[in-house]
Amino acid sequence: MHDEQMTDLERLVLSRRRFIGAGALAGAALFLGGGTLGRNALAEPLAAARSRPLLGFANVPASSADTVTLPPGYRFRPLISWGQPLHADGAPYRGDGSHSAAEQLGQFGDNNDGMGFFPWPDDPDRALLAINNEYVNYRYLLAHGHLPQSLEDVRKAQAAVGVTVIEVQRKGGEWRFVQGSPYNRRIHANLPISISGPARGHELLRTAADPQGIEVLGTFQNCASGRTPWGTYLTCEENFSDCFGSSDAGLALTPDQQRYGVEHASVGNDWHRFDERFDIARHPNELHRHGWITEIDPFDPNSRPVKRTALGRFKHENAALTISRDGRVVVYMGDDERGEFIYKFVTRDRLNTRDPRANRDILDHGSLYVARFDAGDGDPQQPRGRGRWIELSAGKNGLTAERGFASQGDVVIRTRQAASLVGATRMDRPEWIAVNPHDGQVYCTLTNNHKRGSGDLPVDGPNPRANNIYGQILRWREDGDDAAAGEFAWDLYLIAGNPVVHPGTPNAGSSQINADNMFNSPDGLGFDADGRLWVLTDGKYSDSGDFAGMGNNQMLCADPRSGEIRRFMVGPVGCEVTGLAFAPDYRTLFVGIQHPGEEGGSSFPDHQPGMRPRSTVIAITREDGGVIGA
Ligand code: FEO
Ligand code: CA
Ligand code: CA
Ligand code: CA
Repeated sequence: MHDEQMTDLERLVLSRRRFIGAGALAGAALFLGGGTLGRNALAEPLAAARSRPLLGFANVPASSADTVTLPPGYRFRPLISWGQPLHADGAPYRGDGSHSAAEQLGQFGDNNDGMGFFPWPDDPDRALLAINNEYVNYRYLLAHGHLPQSLEDVRKAQAAVGVTVIEVQRKGGEWRFVQGSPYNRRIHANLPISISGPARGHELLRTAADPQGIEVLGTFQNCASGRTPWGTYLTCEENFSDCFGSSDAGLALTPDQQRYGVEHASVGNDWHRFDERFDIARHPNELHRHGWITEIDPFDPNSRPVKRTALGRFKHENAALTISRDGRVVVYMGDDERGEFIYKFVTRDRLNTRDPRANRDILDHGSLYVARFDAGDGDPQQPRGRGRWIELSAGKNGLTAERGFASQGDVVIRTRQAASLVGATRMDRPEWIAVNPHDGQVYCTLTNNHKRGSGDLPVDGPNPRANNIYGQILRWREDGDDAAAGEFAWDLYLIAGNPVVHPGTPNAGSSQINADNMFNSPDGLGFDADGRLWVLTDGKYSDSGDFAGMGNNQMLCADPRSGEIRRFMVGPVGCEVTGLAFAPDYRTLFVGIQHPGEEGGSSFPDHQPGMRPRSTVIAITREDGGVIGA
């Protein structure tokens, strides 16, 4: 295979081989998204990284402009935008929200988020891109611009969320969306999806429509994602409870419903008013059928996605995969809510590198753990300490039948309650997690938490600031550099802040933050092959008060060795920058521009009178065709 067909994960697996020696993975050709693993492919990017500075672009000034701003020598093009028809006979995007639910089913979904790039097995100029469509902007989705007023409105929203798989092809050095490809597919909120793992068939998953609790309709609130070494896509369901409400305003919410954040009126969706499946007064178990990680085979457009319940049920952000020393798959996951937790899952079985299909159900068997951090050394610049993983298995660590955990199904359906019971550390909203392919260290964005320091959420080790409005990036190193280890050492890699408005600790942020690169609310996170750490933000874009000088949401790039961080890109007005994927040669970077103009004031990307702004995946390249960021 071409070196350039290698992905982060392939490199990581290869680098793990150095630890593993003649162990499980040695000598085997690893199939990954159709490619076989080249033997010397790791050497080139590592050598390149050593011979010159990691960050080779000029810092981009903060901006409040309604466009994408990049360093000199870089350019972008929209790859695909909300409403774009996937098939030749699809309804064209009309720009005014007037298309029907049926038309939306054949168009790219709204609010693109996490992505995965899947190279073609035998063609370096073809690939599939799986893209999450997290939720919708009713202001633009519906012609009337308000919450759903009818079942048709709800169906249209349900048709615009989930995941879109598209084919892309490279021509003249540029990757382009291939309309009409038989691989183009919408996975939406009414598509049948199988349930596997410990919660399959559990009584809490049984409903009138599915008395056996084995098949659910749809996936939605698909935030970030993961990509497996056997060539599948993991889509992570985050704010699923926002889609549920109660027709009975006096319904007493159970502690379990409250723990997952359900509100009688729903949180900004109103689906329950027209689609009784989302009415917890009538179908309380439907709520338990969401909040999972769903696995999709992008290369089989007729395949049925599977909810992998062994990975736990919570407000999933992404799924960061790595390989343990003994060749098992490890999945790191964050639960994005104030005071919720960081998890990892370790498979029972080793990754089969000879036959990718043998890993088809590997995520159904394994152990789920939650992180407990100690108080650390209290250093204001870079606190550090120790932590350990506590197993969440029925019968262990106090997870007994008397406490409601008679089976592993009970544990995974009520993951948050189990994690609280074992004494996990309540975090400042864990968002994405990324594993450095060069040293295995794990990074996690803790985006912000204005409730920290109040009530029952005191400041502690990795969450050191009261009223944390800027966020931080946590890092840990597993003992023995083994992702399956029981304990780890942690530090705060970066504390975001505003050193102009708040000189001095704690809100100036850590030493690498200055007036030129400051930002708030780190969220998306990912490494490239050279080890650059890419950081995407979902923060306040007022450019005033505590956030003065920060501009619109943005993407930054850090050198994990020196700690230096530079602003690489600024997004248009009102957007979140979320979702990133590299082409295997790292010369094209796909980035998600989510909800431009969510509060008005944007016409991105069309910039034409009367056209509503729309979420868009952009492709960033260098004018000289070089590696992004180098
Ligand atoms: Fe969908 Fe926590 O971001
Ligand atoms: Ca996020
Ligand atoms: Ca966020
Ligand atoms: Ca968002």
